[in-house]
Amino acid sequence: MELAPLLLLLLLLPAAAMAVAAGGEPVAAHPGYALGGAEEACGVAEAEAEAEALPAPERREEFDGGRIVDISHYYREDMPAWESAEGSGGFLRLARSMRNGSDIANFSELRLTAHSGTHVDAPGHVFEHYYDAGFDVDTLDLAVLNGPALLVDVPRDKNITAEVMASLHIPKGVRRVLFRTLNTDRKLMWKKEFDTSFVGFMKDGAQWLVDNTDIKLVVHCRG
Ligand SMILES: *[C@@H]1O[C@H](CO)[C@@H](O)[C@H](O)[C@H]1NC(C)=O
Ligand SMILES: *[C@@H]1O[C@H](CO)[C@@H](O)[C@H](O)[C@H]1NC(C)=O
Ligand SMILES: *[C@@H]1O[C@H](CO)[C@@H](O)[C@H](O)[C@H]1NC(C)=O
Repeated sequence: MELAPLLLLLLLLPAAAMAVAAGGEPVAAHPGYALGGAEEACGVAEAEAEAEALPAPERREEFDGGRIVDISHYYREDMPAWESAEGSGGFLRLARSMRNGSDIANFSELRLTAHSGTHVDAPGHVFEHYYDAGFDVDTLDLAVLNGPALLVDVPRDKNITAEVMASLHIPKGVRRVLFRTLNTDRKLMWKKEFDTSFVGFMKDGAQWLVDNTDIKLVVHCRG
């Protein structure tokens, strides 16, 4: 049986070009993933017992022939939130626990803004007429959001102006670009207090991009 491909590598805004927590041992995404060979994986005994009944699970680590590199930040309570000095705060709680009365499961509740951490903005986020017309995230083209992207280093002493865009010489035909800026060096995503001095696109830089490149997806770390 073919499962519908559900892989989304959303190269999201604002994303830092760093994902792997520094140091530490590599951690398997799931007990079924072997790190040092199948023999060492958790749950192998059960997996072998069930092997006759179940087809081997297909690991969808690839999309469209390319490797997926997840650059999204995991949610943390001290992850910066827009104009907040307090970070994102407690966004996860155990609403019902098996320890004190829930008889079938633990129920956790998430409460956070749609613009937390690594995310993609809907057209309706900043344009009222798009909002009124219902341009939600599901109106975005997944073919634009997925696929090879170019990582470009922006001069660390500048915001992204038309002049900076011109100096980057991004070739025609490139559709997805990750702009690595001073925000990454300053580790803004790791600072609880929102820093309004983050580097970003200036209006003329955005206009230059529209007028002179084939870029359809912009990824940057805002901090
Ligand atoms: C049960 O535990 C959960 C999680 O700790 C808590 O949110 C909830 O208020 C508790 N309910 C009762 C009835 O004590
Ligand atoms: C349910 O929540 C409790 C905390 O109240 C935790 O100790 C327990 O491991 C959880 N059980 C499951 C099956 O996740
Ligand atoms: C980028 O622009 C912001 C907002 O105007 C400003 O605070 C910041 O200092 C600028 N950064 C650089 C590197 O020029």
